[in-house]
Amino acid sequence: MDPAINPFAPGAGNQPPELTGRGIVLTETAVILERLRRRYSDRSQILIGLRGVGKTVLLNRIDKMARDKGFHSAILEAPENRSLAEILAPELRRLLLQLDMLEGAKDTAKKALGALRAFASVFKISIGDVGVGISSAPGMADSGDFGRDLTDLMTMVGEAAADKGTLVAILIDEMQYLRENDLAGLIAALHRVSQRNLPLIVFGAGLPQLVGLMGNAKSYAERLFVFKEIGPLTREDAIKALEDPAERVGVRFLPEALDEILNATAGYPYFLQEWGKHTWIKARTTPITRDDALAATPEAIREMDQSFFRVRFDRLTPTEREYLRAMAELGPEPHRSGDIAAIMQRPVEQVAPIRSKVILKGMAYAPAHGDTAFTVPMFDEYMKRAMPVFTPRPPRPRKTSDKAA
Ligand SMILES: Nc1ncnc2c1ncn2[C@@H]1O[C@H](COP(=O)(O)OP(=O)(O)OP(=O)(O)O)[C@@H](O)[C@H]1O
Ligand SMILES: [Mg+2]
Repeated sequence: MDPAINPFAPGAGNQPPELTGRGIVLTETAVILERLRRRYSDRSQILIGLRGVGKTVLLNRIDKMARDKGFHSAILEAPENRSLAEILAPELRRLLLQLDMLEGAKDTAKKALGALRAFASVFKISIGDVGVGISSAPGMADSGDFGRDLTDLMTMVGEAAADKGTLVAILIDEMQYLRENDLAGLIAALHRVSQRNLPLIVFGAGLPQLVGLMGNAKSYAERLFVFKEIGPLTREDAIKALEDPAERVGVRFLPEALDEILNATAGYPYFLQEWGKHTWIKARTTPITRDDALAATPEAIREMDQSFFRVRFDRLTPTEREYLRAMAELGPEPHRSGDIAAIMQRPVEQVAPIRSKVILKGMAYAPAHGDTAFTVPMFDEYMKRAMPVFTPRPPRPRKTSDKAA
């Protein structure tokens, strides 16, 4: 069918033609924003889910929701090799310059800009000009202790927002990549902000390991945040995600076609977009049939192998690939470390550091102690396509120190 009106949009963070199944999260978010603006307390929210379930899309929606309400928001992505201070400071500068333009009783935004300048200088971050006549505020956010300084700074941003009668929302994607000290600092800062009911909130998103990482960083994190699980769509929502955009341009899916797509995608949003797109390409006319869906499957898989799965595979070392391939050998569900080690024909102690690395890279997580599962849905099938034959490499000879132990 006409590719020019193909509505489906696979891609990282691409707004889907129909955002289904996320009504509750969005309604709750709207309530939280309104509560905070009125200076009632509420907790920061963290969206937790596997790759491709739609976390980034939701953060973008929340960002838009906040802006539409006239609030001030910043969206950032935690990179693997930079500090939180580095990515946050320029955004705080932008937000504070915006707040400074608003009518308010006090000079709170200017003071916060002064603290930001001190913060940037202590942590050696270049943020550019913070405005004429703004000087560093000695004694604020300049101790060099990240947690303390971020707490000073965020409190001042919250005070500036309160003074101007608005709200600041900070959205942080890929939060599992934040270092422990950064996470601890952020949690401590939000703790103070929430104790003072200041109108500043963080919406985060990350892979399942983020829950444990936050708990390790600060034991009270679990009480301070609400963790919202974002999963695959229900059957009804998945059908709606396919049918509604097509219907708008006069195209229908036959029920057998929908069954086929649901079967292949298990309701995962990214996969639904990919199958939707390729089924559309294969279909000659409406209604879309089961044969169209069947013909689309190899195309959808080929495209995902070259993009969605491939970008993840390329970041792995040969040993990490071997680890994930061993997991794939056991199947898609979580596996015990001992079972994976057995497939690799290596002692568990030798496999443990590899497991840590694949978790750190965001390729796997521990759903329960000692278990390991894929963070990318259907990665087991991909690993088998990428490495059809699994031959465990012989274990490394034990070091003398190992023998002595
Ligand atoms: N609720 C939804 N209904 C239909 N499609 C959706 C929905 N949510 C997301 N999508 C689609 O799924 C794809 C993945 O979305 P997104 O990039 O937000 O996922 P993610 O969870 O951030 O993934 P990653 O962990 O890889 O960053 C996009 O193509 C998006 O359009
Ligand atoms: Mg994302």
